[in-house]
This record gives sequence, structure tokens and C-alpha cells, in this order.
Amino acid sequence: MTTTTRPLRPTDREDIAQRLLRSSAKASYNPLTEIDWERPVGKDNYAMPPHRVSLYGTPLWDGLTEAQRKELSRQEIASIANIGIWFETILMQMLIRHAYDRDPTTSHVQYSYTEIGDECRHSVMFAKFIRKMGAPHYRLDPAARSLGRVFKTISNGPLTFSAALFVEELLDQMQREAMADERIDPLTRAVARLHVTEEARHMRYAREELIRDWPRRGPVTRAYSRLVLAVVAAISSDRLVHPGCYARVGLDPEQARRAARRNPHWRASKTWFARQAVETFTAAGMLSGPARYIWRKAGLIGYGGPDA
Ligand SMILES: [Fe+2]
Ligand SMILES: [Fe+2]
Repeated sequence: MTTTTRPLRPTDREDIAQRLLRSSAKASYNPLTEIDWERPVGKDNYAMPPHRVSLYGTPLWDGLTEAQRKELSRQEIASIANIGIWFETILMQMLIRHAYDRDPTTSHVQYSYTEIGDECRHSVMFAKFIRKMGAPHYRLDPAARSLGRVFKTISNGPLTFSAALFVEELLDQMQREAMADERIDPLTRAVARLHVTEEARHMRYAREELIRDWPRRGPVTRAYSRLVLAVVAAISSDRLVHPGCYARVGLDPEQARRAARRNPHWRASKTWFARQAVETFTAAGMLSGPARYIWRKAGLIGYGGPDA
């Protein structure tokens, strides 16, 4: 794929930031009061479409009862929410660093602060959601945690906004599908609806900042940023489902994780979740060279994606 229908020229920075601020003033939500947290989560529904569960289509999936499959969907969506919190925490720090060096009277810096406020509320929402799904805190492995710690401290402008865009686009694809599916548990759909609304602004902001900054960078920074983005994308997408989810339905966690990694349905889902981000990065020239190999190996391109 070499072209895209998405415009890659940035619009006026202050003009777009003012529009985003006006939209935030009109449509921002407090999940603590917008969402009915008292309503019990029933066991009758899936918490994500069954074909998006990581083991769907495998012999392990065939061996589960319908109740176990639904339970696995609740555990996996809770694990994904945990990754959401991890990344939002990283993003909040990156946005604070972004604002630190800039003029706070400009609209684009004020939008950065506004987005940090949104992400604070989202992380509390996801944390409450995890509890309601009956899931524990699935703690990230030390390697991913260390990578996140380094990344949030040293990311440059293009990495801050490309990594933000990657994770936001991934969740956006999942949540748009879930909120339109009436088979899905109502709490999952309510959380998805709220998040999708506010994230649309974040993705616009990230895309604008990225395509403004990227062409100004020299070849060394670009090569470095392409590689680091690919590693971040590969690691964060690999950690979406914590192996502890499988243990909750009586499966061997390591055996199930291996089955998920090999599962063509799960790889196709990851390609599908990543497709908008891949389209933007391809058009911007962020997916070329050795980085492309990492994206492909991670199952983020090549399964029903632009190269299929
Ligand atoms: Fe968010
Ligand atoms: Fe966001």
C-alpha cells in the first residue's frame, strides 16, 4: 500500500486545537456519574464478540463450554482495559513533558492539558470496569513495565504521538465493533461509547501533531523512531491478553498463550485492530525498512491487512 485517502497535510495548529477545545467543552463525560456502576454484570453475555477472543477457532476454544467462553471474554476485555490504563498512564506523562516546554497560552498546549484530564477519567473508568468484570489486576511482566518506564521518559515528539495514535486506534477499532453489537454486555458497550467519543478528539490531535513534526526530522531520528515505534507496537499488542486470563477458565496459561500466538484468527484480529494506524503510518513513511519486518512478525500487518 502506498497511498491513502486520509489527508496527510497538517491543518492550522491553533485552528484545529480551538475546534478540539470547543468539542471538549460540549461533549466530555464523567464516567463516575455517566455509567451505571450499580447494575450487576450478568453471566449470559459475551464481553467482546466471540471471534475477537484470542483462542477463538482453536482446539482449546472447542474444548470450552459456552459459559467458559463467556468468562474468558470478560477476563480478556479486563486484561485489555489494564493495558489501556498502562498506556494512558504513559501517555499522560508524555503529554505533560510535551506541554512543559511550550507556551500554555496557546490552544494546542491547552488541548494537551485537556487530553490529560480525559485520560485521568478514562483510567479510573477502566479500573472500575476491571473490577466489574470480576477480574484481578493482571500485572504486566517486568520487561514490558521497564520498557514503558524508559519510553515515557525518553520519547521524542513523533514517538509520543505515533505511539498514542497506535494504541488509541487499536482500542477504537475494538470498541466501535463492541458498542454496535447487541450481544455484548451493556457495561462494556457503555464504557466503549464514552471512550470512543473522547478518543476521536485525541486521535485527531495526535495525527495532526505527528504529521506536522515527522517531515521536519532528520534521517537518523526517523530511522530510530520507526524502529522504536515498531517495538512498542509489537510489545503492547502482544500483551493485550495476560496469560492469567486462561487460568481463570481452567486452561494451562503457557499452553494457551502459545496457542493464541499461533492462532490465525487472533492474528487477523490484531491486523484488523491496527489497520487505521497502519494506514496512517504507511502514508507518513513510518513503516518502511526493518521496522516493517517487526510489524509483520507481530501480526499487525499481513493478515487481511494492506499486504494481504
Ligand atoms: Fe483514553
Ligand atoms: Fe486518548
